[in-house]
Order: sequence, then structure tokens, then C-alpha cells
Amino acid sequence: MSHAEENAGTRRDFLYYATAGAATVTVGAAVWPIVNQMNPSADVQALASIFVDVGGVSVGSQLTVQWLGKPVFIRRRSEAEIADARSVVLGDLMDTDARNANIREASADDQNRTLDEAGEWLVMMGVCTHLGCVPLGNGAGDFGGWFCPCHGSHYDTSGRIRRGPAPENLHVPVAQFVDETTIQLG
Ligand code: FES
Repeated sequence: MSHAEENAGTRRDFLYYATAGAATVTVGAAVWPIVNQMNPSADVQALASIFVDVGGVSVGSQLTVQWLGKPVFIRRRSEAEIADARSVVLGDLMDTDARNANIREASADDQNRTLDEAGEWLVMMGVCTHLGCVPLGNGAGDFGGWFCPCHGSHYDTSGRIRRGPAPENLHVPVAQFVDETTIQLG
């Protein structure tokens, strides 16, 4: 492979890591003002945000990025994944927070977790809520979502815990689209 081809192949990764790296360094530099003032300004808090280009993420695939030292799964779900997530009977969900929320339908519960109303984009912390392993994705596990092999936790296509020792759904961080192809985390 020529140098040029190699560059083309890794350009997206480089762009991401360059952005995330800059964010990490900036956050590190912001620790002193937080400690010294004990009153972080909005500016300082905003430094914890990163911007992720999701323009190259095709339907039915996902991108994993590092944010605040943890993996974040950004999945562009297929129609089938969305339909699966929205047809679940709410009583089958294990996470009591999800069960007790003012949500009466599976579609509303799933919609609550996704970035867009159609439910194509799902952003979650890639950290198992049992003891913190990173679950496997891309349709893994008995519910077609994510599977944590550490102790056998199965998450569905909405990242909700369905079987195994994990007590909670995969956490959904603060995230939003800032333009058509860019997601802001934090
Ligand atoms: S850490 Fe995931 S199942 Fe235990």
C-alpha cells in the first residue's frame, strides 16, 4: 500500500483522533481552574464537549469514539433494529427506571433514548452497567443489540438491559446534532 493510500484509508480516524486528542488536552488543562475556583464557568464546562463527524456511518453500522476517557457508541440503526426496539412490551424491560418513567409505550421509551424522532441515531456510553466492561455490538447477544461477555449481559437494539446481571440500560449521554453530519457529545 502506498503512503497516499494509507493516508486515504486512515483519514477519518486521524480526523477523529486529532479532534478528540485536542479536546482531551484542553480538558486536562482546564482542571486547575476548576480546582482553584471550585466554580467552573460555562466556558470551562463546554470544553468537555467533542464533535464527531458521522457523515461516513452507514445504516446498520456504528462508530465508537472515546469521550472523557470512556467509549461512546454511535449507532445508525436499520429499520429492523428500530422496529425491534419499538415493539418490545414495556413490562419485559429490566431497568426499573425505564419501567417507572412516564412512558406507556415501547416506541416512546425507545424514542426517549434516540437523537432523532425516527430513531435512526442512538448514542450511548459503551460501558456495561454491571462492572464496566465494554460490550460487543453490531447485533451481538440474544436481543440483537449488544452483549457483554464479562458476565453475560444482553442489551437490545435500544441498549436496554434484557438479560444478565447488569442492573441498568446502557447510559445515554448528552448529545445532539449540530449540523447534518456532526454530533456534539457533552
Ligand atoms: S461487566 Fe458486563 S456483565 Fe459484568
